[in-house]
Amino acid sequence: MKKLLVDVDCGVDDAQAIMMALAAPGVQILGITCVHGNTVVENVCKNVLRVLKACQKLEIPVFRGASKPILGKTLHAGHFHGDDGLGDAPDPQAPGPELIQEEGAVAAMIRIASEHAGEVSLVATAPLTNLALAVRMDPTFPQKLKALYIMGGNTDSRGNTTMCAEFNFAADPEAAYIVLNDYMCPTYIACWEFTCHNKLPWEFCDTWLAQDSEKARFMKRIFQHSMDVVHNERFEKEMVAGLGFVSCDSYAMAAAIDSSFVTECEQVAVSVELTGAYTRGMMVLDKLGLLKKEHKAFILKKVDMNRFKALMMKALQ
Ligand code: BDR
Ligand code: CA
Repeated sequence: MKKLLVDVDCGVDDAQAIMMALAAPGVQILGITCVHGNTVVENVCKNVLRVLKACQKLEIPVFRGASKPILGKTLHAGHFHGDDGLGDAPDPQAPGPELIQEEGAVAAMIRIASEHAGEVSLVATAPLTNLALAVRMDPTFPQKLKALYIMGGNTDSRGNTTMCAEFNFAADPEAAYIVLNDYMCPTYIACWEFTCHNKLPWEFCDTWLAQDSEKARFMKRIFQHSMDVVHNERFEKEMVAGLGFVSCDSYAMAAAIDSSFVTECEQVAVSVELTGAYTRGMMVLDKLGLLKKEHKAFILKKVDMNRFKALMMKALQ
């Protein structure tokens, strides 16, 4: 059984990643921790509950985490995910906040990792504030993780939020710095450009959403806003070669749940720029080894997209 902790800022692609894990055989989600990011943390909690309800998995505990980054401005991505984070397609019957656990996200991460030391992997698809706080609260937390899977950062100087930084790192550069420097566990990173080079073609999305299931109908409702954004703007042409949708967070999740998904990684020490006037939040790859860091991250390079599509299809069945 693959045991997971999942840390999200539940926008549309976080929802897709969670649904992928919920549907994958042999995967157990021990808890979902929420953090600021695509929308405010209250919405993130609500969105996770909506996803769990759509999948009839409300028994999975959901924890509220940090509402702001460690330093600097709070960023949201309402333009892309909708102001509520899930496409502004509200559900009047959405579960209420009373279902959120009283225990805070950071305490829960530390507790769950201790209870399942060496067995649980953490999938982080959001600004890394909760993870940074966890290692500050308990420096032994990372060594209890089997592995860490991150969606975030970029491998060249092109960002998607600032000129040079990807959203999850731009939304809390200090947290990203702490995690990339203090988490010595095996760390896999699905960067922005990598995800963009592995788009899901629109024909696939049509087939995916046309499945006859409650989950597919739920996805269609929350996904429409983002699809419209991609279609209506220069987004599609500008961001990356090829047409289609980039479910960024789902790549980190797929790497965590299916060992045959990743076929090639680059092993390199990484850090994050904190002070550059233009480059704050940009991931830095130490290809020359000048940082003298022994711990190297695995940057995803090549993956089996047939495996990915199969996982995605199953998510809505
Ligand atoms: C990341 O930013 C968020 O908007 C997405 O959910 C994803 O985690 C992509 O840069
Ligand atoms: Ca996310």
